[in-house]
Amino acid sequence: MFLVTFYSICILSCYAGILPSGTQNSHKARVLDLPLSQQEHFTDTNHDEKVEHNTAYDHEAFLGVEEAKKFEKLSVEESTKRLGALFDRIDKDHNGTVTKQELKDWIKSVQTRYITDDVERQWKQMNNDSNNAISWDEYDKTTYYALYDNTPEPDQVTEQYLRLQKKDRRRFTKADEDGNGSLNKNEFADFIHPEQSPRMKDLVITETIEDMDANKDGFISLEEFLHDIWDSTENNNTVEPEWVQTERENFLAYRDLDHDKKLNRKEVELWLMPVDYDNIEAETSHLFREADKDQDNQLTKEEILDKHDVFVGSQATDWGAELRVHQDL
Ligand SMILES: *[C@@H]1O[C@H](CO)[C@@H](O)[C@H](O)[C@H]1NC(C)=O
Ligand SMILES: *[C@@H]1O[C@H](CO)[C@@H](O)[C@H](O)[C@H]1NC(C)=O
Ligand SMILES: *[C@@H]1O[C@H](CO)[C@@H](O)[C@H](O)[C@H]1NC(C)=O
Ligand SMILES: *[C@@H]1O[C@H](CO)[C@@H](O)[C@H](O)[C@H]1NC(C)=O
Repeated sequence: MFLVTFYSICILSCYAGILPSGTQNSHKARVLDLPLSQQEHFTDTNHDEKVEHNTAYDHEAFLGVEEAKKFEKLSVEESTKRLGALFDRIDKDHNGTVTKQELKDWIKSVQTRYITDDVERQWKQMNNDSNNAISWDEYDKTTYYALYDNTPEPDQVTEQYLRLQKKDRRRFTKADEDGNGSLNKNEFADFIHPEQSPRMKDLVITETIEDMDANKDGFISLEEFLHDIWDSTENNNTVEPEWVQTERENFLAYRDLDHDKKLNRKEVELWLMPVDYDNIEAETSHLFREADKDQDNQLTKEEILDKHDVFVGSQATDWGAELRVHQDL
């Protein structure tokens, strides 16, 4: 039932490690509505409607991936203590209870934190002359010239760089909202994380199709779609993993709405930017169902600490999981 495939099983492969910015990022997450976590929220164990809840998902949604890893290493006492401290930050108006809105805002801020951090980091790195705008020349120099060691020789200007540079130029122009040739920090954020910006939507769709459309017919076929997520050559022609088969079925059942075995722009848009599912809302409701003991639509610190295993992990819960695995064997 829970066919919310958080698609952005990040597609990191392509240019990772080659380029510091812009274009590279489009490969990281193809879905605009970022997943709260890289985990599936529910594991559909077998097909008799038995759905197992994945606690790692909740921990990552509530803490962020990096923090969740840190909490796992803590003792129960320490992780509960830190959760108590977090409560005071989530309870924005400091009146002793967390409302649904406060929890939603928190999860949202966890979700966008990595983007704001990334924008800050790249802004500092690119903005060499430290004014409050980045011109195309400045971006071009730090990104592409730097790659050629500041001495672009014709033979070093590979086709791939030229293609990426051209793509970045187009995206830069689109991000430059006031069209004055330089990006301020907000425009720069749209440039390096267009997936977060409604006005970049059309371009994101175009770029995604261009990236995946091997035969250049303007559509993403089933084969092109699957090749993008799992390249059999790269995987030495090993047996296709089961999740690829699941993706194939999902493509045919849910993404290819007009059943012509390829995605057009509208279908790509609905895939990248699903309109029917608000994962922050869903996660908030889920956490309330777990923790709101007296069902008054507010969480007290006691209610949250009582369910610390739902919100955060700790060493003891991991041992518990391990015990269960051994019992299953
Ligand atoms: C805290 O404030 C919320 C509204 O922000 C309110 O609904 C709730 O009743 C308040 N809780 C307490 C304990 O005052
Ligand atoms: C930044 O500017 C300084 C001085 O203008 C220059 O020496 C340096 O190479 C520049 N760094 C980059 C990454 O362009
Ligand atoms: C372009 O506008 C930004 C603000 O959006 C400003 O900081 C920058 O100086 C302007 N650049 C030019 C070349 O006018
Ligand atoms: C494919 O084979 C090569 C050479 O044997 C190996 O280095 C590489 O790790 C393999 N890739 C995968 C995904 O198994």
